[in-house]
Amino acid sequence: MQIGPIKLPVPFCQAGLAGYSDRAMRLVARRRGCPYAVTESLLDITLLHGGKGLENSIDINDEDHPIAGQIIGSEPDQLARVAQILYAHRYDVIDLNFACPVKKIKNKARGGHMLRDLPRAVEILKAVRDALPPQVPTTVSLRRGYDDSGESTDAFFQILETAWSLDYAAVRVHARTVEQKYAGPSRWPFLKDLKARYPDQTILGSGDVFTAEDAVRMLGDTGVDMVWIARGAIGNPWVFKQAAALLESGSALLPPSIHEQRDALREHFGISMEIHGEQLAGRRMRKQGIKYARFHPDASQVKVDFIAVTSLRTWQQVLDKWYSHDGPGVWPDPRAADEVNGEENQSCEAA
Ligand SMILES: Cc1cc2nc3c(=O)[nH]c(=O)nc-3n(C[C@H](O)[C@H](O)[C@H](O)COP(=O)(O)O)c2cc1C
Repeated sequence: MQIGPIKLPVPFCQAGLAGYSDRAMRLVARRRGCPYAVTESLLDITLLHGGKGLENSIDINDEDHPIAGQIIGSEPDQLARVAQILYAHRYDVIDLNFACPVKKIKNKARGGHMLRDLPRAVEILKAVRDALPPQVPTTVSLRRGYDDSGESTDAFFQILETAWSLDYAAVRVHARTVEQKYAGPSRWPFLKDLKARYPDQTILGSGDVFTAEDAVRMLGDTGVDMVWIARGAIGNPWVFKQAAALLESGSALLPPSIHEQRDALREHFGISMEIHGEQLAGRRMRKQGIKYARFHPDASQVKVDFIAVTSLRTWQQVLDKWYSHDGPGVWPDPRAADEVNGEENQSCEAA
């Protein structure tokens, strides 16, 4: 599996997830088998204005490769400049977000709304490609349509064909429409048809991947080249190894033990604190902790305790109370990963 010149050992990646997939989440996952990760979507104007949190949002280190910097915006020239900024910060791939369902500015398409503004979408694809040296891979993240209309499907294919004609290295297709946001099924047969139509292009499949089993099933059912693991990776940095084991040997690994969970939680909070400081780390890690809790035999009580976390001290208290004694973890109800707070109104931009 390759994204342009970048060879990847297993066909699974960690998705861009606003509010989650910062360097802390990425490193914890990479140390447990994640081969490729994507940033939360970075808004062009925030980066251009060197705004608050700029360094927190885009700083990467040697361990955080290969990485795609995902950019979102409405203006071709601004997105082109932002692509150059990320390239200068040693990003390996630039991913354009044409997938986010939230519209923030009047009369100007952004994210998934590009499917309703083809000329703008095409201009952005060109401007970003032209702004970078040819060896730097560019990719685009798309929904399968704005809605279920034929017009919307046509727009999807025009964007796709433009991307191929400009030598985009891959597209990532979330097989829900923009109108669906994150609810209802992701239409995997659409991915299968797409891969059959473009067998020589690299396609990443996305939507309804909550477990390692789902990831491997998506490969088999659709033939996509790589699976984009999103909600299924929150609180489960082991999912990449689990999926690789399933793919290679057909057998599932054991769920992470209590001490494996404790170690990941501790590490995750530590890196988050380095990036964001204790207070913000406390807020961000609360929602991560809730998701990790699903592998604990006392999941519902652990979750309640994570909800009350505000600081390193209160975080440590939860670890001391629930994670001191080692023992087997449990496989959660797979659909429990489906309840990410506030996702209906998720902004798709790095906080
Ligand atoms: C909380 C949240 C934040 C997200 N942020 C981003 C983002 O920044 N960039 C992006 O391309 N997709 C984003 N997505 C979409 C996911 O990457 C993924 O495409 C979507 O959740 C479908 O996959 P799933 O059903 O397997 O979770 C986000 C989704 C959620 C739930």
